[in-house]
Amino acid sequence: MLKIGPYQLKNRLILAPMAGVTDRPFRQLCRQHGAAMAVSEMVIADPSFWKTRKSIHRLDHQGEDTPISVQIAGGDPEMLATAAKLNQDMGAQIIDINMGCPAKKVCNKAAGSALMKDEALVTAILDRVVNAVEIPVTLKIRTGWDTTQKNALTIARIAEQAGIQALAIHGRTRSCAYKGDAEYTTISQVKQAIQIPVFANGDIDSPEKAAHVLKVTQADGLLIGRAAQGCPWIFDDINYFLEHGQHRPSLETDQIKEIILRHLTELHQFYGEKMGHRIARKHIGWYLKTSKNHLEFRKEFNQIESPQKQLEAIHREFEQQKVKANEGEKAA
Ligand SMILES: Cc1cc2nc3c(=O)[nH]c(=O)nc-3n(C[C@H](O)[C@H](O)[C@H](O)COP(=O)(O)O)c2cc1C
Repeated sequence: MLKIGPYQLKNRLILAPMAGVTDRPFRQLCRQHGAAMAVSEMVIADPSFWKTRKSIHRLDHQGEDTPISVQIAGGDPEMLATAAKLNQDMGAQIIDINMGCPAKKVCNKAAGSALMKDEALVTAILDRVVNAVEIPVTLKIRTGWDTTQKNALTIARIAEQAGIQALAIHGRTRSCAYKGDAEYTTISQVKQAIQIPVFANGDIDSPEKAAHVLKVTQADGLLIGRAAQGCPWIFDDINYFLEHGQHRPSLETDQIKEIILRHLTELHQFYGEKMGHRIARKHIGWYLKTSKNHLEFRKEFNQIESPQKQLEAIHREFEQQKVKANEGEKAA
């Protein structure tokens, strides 16, 4: 049974934190479609930033399923400890520390995966944060600084020693950014060396890939990021495949339309009239990226300035697709 502290996860799949993507509506959607947990977008550790509109939305966890995992980012042990404590008081049930993001600096200090270069600082951060809260603390890292300095194993041991309760590893170094393919050998080495749950991450974009990564790494679970963009039901797809060894039937077009409409409505409500429809645009781009006329539709959709008109445009687009599909069938 996969557990993080006292929280038992219903399966092995977690939505990876993605700034600008994994907001509350998207987290809830992914959980409805099979993610056992969904980590928040990173929150900058310095509380003086928390009054901005962006942070207010990032700190909102109303109505979210348990366990609520909030990611914090920064480079100062005291500030991270304070941020962890404040987030615990605001409803976080797990604190995740970001040492995986390639951004160089947050608030003029090294942060994200840049921290991995300074193992003494990593130790100080993990000790301070773990001791500041009563809830489980997890850590997200990359395999190292660059391909000649892969210190994931050392960091993993530091993490376990500090009382970190689960570790997620993205199979790239910081200097790789998102280039090349993720590698899973380092993740497998870390899994063999520590006792806490290990989550493998990087380029998992299909049920087959998920099964492969679980097999080669022996990881306890997987973190899925970009493949969930425009496809929040990928978690159900993967869970089914892992359980039955075959694909579940694809979703019907009408089911996809309903998911998109619900997502749009949630975004409009969460961000309000002015922002909601703008934030929705990128999600619609991802949902429809494989449809034939997606560039045309996207151009048209991105000019719409009203939430209601966005919903109508999606209805229309799906109706047109249906008509075209019927015509295609008749012609064949
Ligand atoms: C748009 C975007 C934003 C991201 N933001 C964060 C973040 O806030 N914190 C973090 O730890 N990782 C962040 N990541 C990295 C992802 O969590 C994940 O490690 C990476 O995308 C590799 O997984 P994938 O191949 O499944 O996407 C981000 C990635 C993307 C694409």
